[in-house]
Amino acid sequence: MTSARLKRVEESATIRISNIANQMIKEGTDVINFSLGEPDFDTPKNICDAAVKAMYEGQTHYAPSAGIPELRTAIAEKLRTENKLDVRDTEVLVTPGAKQAIFEIMMGVLNDGDQAILFDPAWVTYDACIRFAGADTVWVPTNPEKGFIPEDFSEYINSKTRMIVVNTPGNPTGGVFSKKALKCISDLAIDHDLLVISDEIYEKIIYDKEHISLGSFEGMQDRTITVNGFSKAYAMTGWRLGYLAAPPEIFKLLLKIHSHSVSSATTFVQYGGLEALTGPQDKVKAMVERFKMRRDILINGLDNIGIKCKRPDGAFYAFADVSEYGTGSEVAEMLLREAHVAVTPGIAFGPSGKDFIRISYATSVDRISEALIRMEKVFE
Ligand SMILES: Cc1ncc(COP(=O)(O)O)c(C=O)c1O
Repeated sequence: MTSARLKRVEESATIRISNIANQMIKEGTDVINFSLGEPDFDTPKNICDAAVKAMYEGQTHYAPSAGIPELRTAIAEKLRTENKLDVRDTEVLVTPGAKQAIFEIMMGVLNDGDQAILFDPAWVTYDACIRFAGADTVWVPTNPEKGFIPEDFSEYINSKTRMIVVNTPGNPTGGVFSKKALKCISDLAIDHDLLVISDEIYEKIIYDKEHISLGSFEGMQDRTITVNGFSKAYAMTGWRLGYLAAPPEIFKLLLKIHSHSVSSATTFVQYGGLEALTGPQDKVKAMVERFKMRRDILINGLDNIGIKCKRPDGAFYAFADVSEYGTGSEVAEMLLREAHVAVTPGIAFGPSGKDFIRISYATSVDRISEALIRMEKVFE
């Protein structure tokens, strides 16, 4: 009764764990949820106001499929000035979330039997979308000691390789790719004529490092599809608003999938996105400062307990090695059952995540401190 395509994809392990945690919460258990991939802050008021105003002004009808012109212009302008990308308004596609952008790209460019390279570990949805599209994932291991950043991976490229997916700052490790690592990726992509998805959704959540866009490297403009969105930087996960910028030929293809599936992102939500990009940015800065403080409390706490965890340079995730206590799945279950702390097993993000857990520190300092106390008891 179901398609072969669907059978190739498993349920997201990140959702599974948070469902169990939610059930426990419903039953009255005080669960500290470190498994969520969303900021715990409210969407800034100016953004809400802009969307509400648009709604009352009648922006409740279909929008142009690629997005409202004002937002596409603002996104292109942002990509040119902040990311040094040579992008025109007409190459920007506004999507209901970055996730939909990634889905459309995979469906639009991958064929049966193609291979796509993921740096292991990687966000769960890439592998799922690659499989939906009939292609296969090739996992390239990275070194935890070096911040999960890939080195030369030419041996993983063959005649079937079509695409590389780059995510910096990254989920689940919080790793930020250096200029050298990005140059290596861009050289290999050019040499082997590969497409690259550059998922930059965490670009603003970065500590003491500079975000560099892969599409800004020489020779990458025609082979990079840049993906970004509003969920993380502006705490807008529920609004479902993201975008991609693609070379014109690919853009045309993706617009076909987009217009025949979602039609467009929600019209008044796009006015909220316009305000997010063009309005004051002080809330973003304040949020990043709070994330940084939480990161330090968490990593220092894990260190005191004796759990190995590289200090992440971006996003709001820490990827901790728990091999001394069991596999990541065993430890995640133990923490949920005994400490009522929900984390995500690292295996959800690729084979090399087996001995790791992902801890999302998008929660208050009090809850992080409480979780550390509970975790210490379990690990003792
Ligand atoms: C790396 C990465 N890309 C994209 C997304 C999707 O974001 P959106 O809410 O815009 O669909 C997420 C969400 O967790 C993510 O972690």
